[in-house]
Amino acid sequence: MDIVLRNLEEIQSTRKARQQHLRNLGIDEAFIGQLVESFYLKVRSDAELGPIFGAEISDWGPHLDKMKLFWQSVVLKENVYSGKPVPAHMKLKGVRSSHFEKWLSLFSETLTELTDSKEIHREFIEPASRIAQRLSSMMNLVD
Ligand code: HEM
Repeated sequence: MDIVLRNLEEIQSTRKARQQHLRNLGIDEAFIGQLVESFYLKVRSDAELGPIFGAEISDWGPHLDKMKLFWQSVVLKENVYSGKPVPAHMKLKGVRSSHFEKWLSLFSETLTELTDSKEIHREFIEPASRIAQRLSSMMNLVD
């Protein structure tokens, strides 16, 4: 039992140290807020992606709030998002693999506009690519 507790404490302190490192780099609620706001402005005005999102989301405020919590949970490992990304995407119609490529390229472009830090860029792009891969493999993509 002692060993289990000690391992848990070790995991927690490693997680805290990593969170602190990321926060020192500049990844905090304000950065994530800017990232999400700027990214979805691009998405909404994109000729391909805009209509797909527009058909599902009428009130952007709650969606943006949810996405800020999502990225806080994914990158900072703070347990603040509780949603269901898989069914939210499974119900979408007419999505192509090129839409995922566009999504990732707009996300990367937004990060580049917000920061020069390659490390910050990587901290977001790696999980984004992994999740995009997982979501797209579960969806019936058009091509
Ligand atoms: C072509 C690519 C994508 C499209 C068209 C798309 C579209 C959407 C739409 C329309 C919603 C809103 C669904 C609803 O509220 O009913 C949504 C929600 C969401 N998307 Fe995506 N998405 C894409 C890629 C991604 C990727 C790559 C990620 C993560 C890295 C992601 C994460 C999420 C999350 C976390 C939600 C909220 C789910 C929830 O808890 O309700 N999406 N997406």
